[in-house]
Amino acid sequence: MNPAPGPVLVMGAGSIGCYVGGCLQASGVPVHLVGRPRVLQLLGVHGLTLTDLSGARRHLAAAELHLHDTPPAGLAPALVLLCVKSGATAASAAQLALCLPAGTPVLSLQNGVSNVDTAQQHAPRLRVLPGMVPFNVAELPEGRFHRGTDGELAAQDDPLLRPWAPRFQAAGLPLRLHADLRAVQWGKLLLNLNNPVNALSGLPLRAQLLDRNFRCCTAVLIEETLAVLKAAGIEPRRITPVAPRFLPTLLRMPTPVFRVLASRMLRIDAQARSSMADDLRLGRVTEIDALCGEVCRLGEQHGRATPRNARMVELVGRHRPEARPQGGEALRRALGVAA
Ligand SMILES: NC(=O)c1ccc[n+]([C@@H]2O[C@H](COP(=O)([O-])OP(=O)(O)OC[C@H]3O[C@@H](n4cnc5c(N)ncnc54)[C@H](OP(=O)(O)O)[C@@H]3O)[C@@H](O)[C@H]2O)c1
Repeated sequence: MNPAPGPVLVMGAGSIGCYVGGCLQASGVPVHLVGRPRVLQLLGVHGLTLTDLSGARRHLAAAELHLHDTPPAGLAPALVLLCVKSGATAASAAQLALCLPAGTPVLSLQNGVSNVDTAQQHAPRLRVLPGMVPFNVAELPEGRFHRGTDGELAAQDDPLLRPWAPRFQAAGLPLRLHADLRAVQWGKLLLNLNNPVNALSGLPLRAQLLDRNFRCCTAVLIEETLAVLKAAGIEPRRITPVAPRFLPTLLRMPTPVFRVLASRMLRIDAQARSSMADDLRLGRVTEIDALCGEVCRLGEQHGRATPRNARMVELVGRHRPEARPQGGEALRRALGVAA
């Protein structure tokens, strides 16, 4: 295999940035991580440990890591991975714009469908491309990042990214390039509509998915979004074995049936949670606006009402935890979902 075209810069050393960047470095690609003092300090003491649901474990010693609190001037990376949450996209892109050569490819590994436009607007001389991460990564103590589900990375097919596909493959992160990533991003967003439900449930993902009340909440959010996408002429790509239009029916099945039919969807570590659950628990800004908020905006553009997604934005935005619905039945009622 050809050597990597040059170093990779990870902008946002959090769950996704440390996991993807760490896998690339473990396979021989030079990687620089830009992150916050809390994470940099942990990595500087413990190094970076990568684990996954198959039991694999890799470790990079602290001395092997290139850690930065701002993008290093003069680095000229061959690829930047944009791995911050949606609310930090504009500021991060503006920082990158200040120090990277014109034309540097920046691959957004973020959820949502608008981060690339936001980043491109704040870094017009860089080449921002959309990507999609299908799997879940959680930060665990002492610099450990754990992948709790499976799946193949996706990105927009572009000559700038083609040389990277074998490097990602060698890092254990197969990367599929797509002619139309927008359809893939909307396919992922449909699945991410479970994130606010999971966050409000207070349960690990697997336990939440095994509760039919919560699944019915996710089903109505998906149904409403599918209607908006149809009005907008967007055909979301299938990300799971189940086609998007069948997801609401599957989710509404009685739990014993769901267990059997959705056995692949349920292949999740018992402790895995959506990162929105952590954001809500820690009082951080969530990505609700990039998920349900995005659906509401698209609905407005195409004359479709989105009361359930709008309600979810409101519920997640409530600052006091006790003001949020407690339990599956309460959430179902708050969303106006029939039993
Ligand atoms: N985690 C997952 O399982 C998963 C899966 C698929 C997709 N995604 C998507 O991937 C993106 C990243 O998610 P994540 O879970 O990896 O988030 P995360 O763990 O919060 O990591 C992002 C990190 O970047 C830091 N950061 C933000 N702005 C920065 C800046 N200007 N300079 C340096 N560091 C900065 C953040 O610090 P602050 O918190 O202080 O801002 C945070 O530590 C999101 O769009 C998410 O939806 C996540």
